[in-house]
Amino acid sequence: MLTSDILTQAVETLRRGGVIALPTETVYGLAANCEDELAVRRVFAIKGRPATHPLIIHIARAEELPSWARQVPEDAWRLAKAFWPGPLTLVLPRTPRATDAVTGGQDTVAIRVPNHPVALAVLDALGGGVAAPSANRFGKVSPTTAEHVRADLGDAVDLILDGGACTVGVESTIVDLSGQEPAVLRPGGLAVEEIERVLGRRVPVRTSATVRVSGSLASHYAPRAGVVLSEPSDVVSRVKTLQAQGQSVGVLGPPSLALPPGVPRYDVPEDPAGAARVLYTRLREADERGHDVLVACLPRAEGLGIAVRDRLARAAAPRPPEG
Ligand code: TXA
Ligand code: MG
Repeated sequence: MLTSDILTQAVETLRRGGVIALPTETVYGLAANCEDELAVRRVFAIKGRPATHPLIIHIARAEELPSWARQVPEDAWRLAKAFWPGPLTLVLPRTPRATDAVTGGQDTVAIRVPNHPVALAVLDALGGGVAAPSANRFGKVSPTTAEHVRADLGDAVDLILDGGACTVGVESTIVDLSGQEPAVLRPGGLAVEEIERVLGRRVPVRTSATVRVSGSLASHYAPRAGVVLSEPSDVVSRVKTLQAQGQSVGVLGPPSLALPPGVPRYDVPEDPAGAARVLYTRLREADERGHDVLVACLPRAEGLGIAVRDRLARAAAPRPPEG
């Protein structure tokens, strides 16, 4: 845990309109007081993210929900009770306290209670909410350590709080409860099966919703190297084909995977939660080695494996030209 001096400094920075990097259990957030429009605009500017893409408001406890959401259905209370603090974001009809700057002018707001002692201490002392997208430049891999944030954003932020490596490792699961039926807008750090268990029914995953979810743009979460997806049984043949084309290849996959000699492996455990925890760190490590292509071995499509597959698919998607 950080010293109380640094926590005080963080809260003061937020109060005077500053922007800080804040550890959460999922990924590091780029946080501003969500009721300070200029500060929120600075978050968009630092990220290079279109201002119409809404941000998640982070609050200290579920009891504060009604001040941000004008309707809190029973399902929302159930999920909040079961999973907050934790890697779950709820989309609900907003109150005026959730401003246009944060919601991108939509009539709904995305809210969560993060499960990290540093984030909770800051929110508690601030007595309000912070808008916090992942603390990376738009379209790049999210940071899961303070070092990642420093490498990406450096002096662009007023303060970086170091809360250690994120324990979940992928962004929160976003559940839309503003419509007739609940739907998952982004698979993430809370397994959809867990949500279904608490709600007692199937909850469809609708990542291509009409709302502007930047994580749903095809080429999000991309490293510099190209990414090729592969089922475990095809990894070796893919590596050989790429090598025959003269490409330098690295593999993201479990230690059990036998590779041709000389091909570097970036260990991503077989178990889906373990894979989620290290995914972004391994993508960064592999990128530093300057490979042309990374062959990513897909985890099982269950539990957090669904989020890992989703992020890998986005990393592998065609990219818009730089500029
Ligand atoms: O785990 C996380 O959620 C991390 C940490 C820092 O809390 N935050 C994060 O924020 O991933 P960001 O901005 O990278 O992703 C927020 C997502 C975006 O895809 C955004 O479009 C969606 O939440 N979102 C925000 N408000 C929404 C709304 N009203 N309706 C639908 N989607 C919304
Ligand atoms: Mg992000």
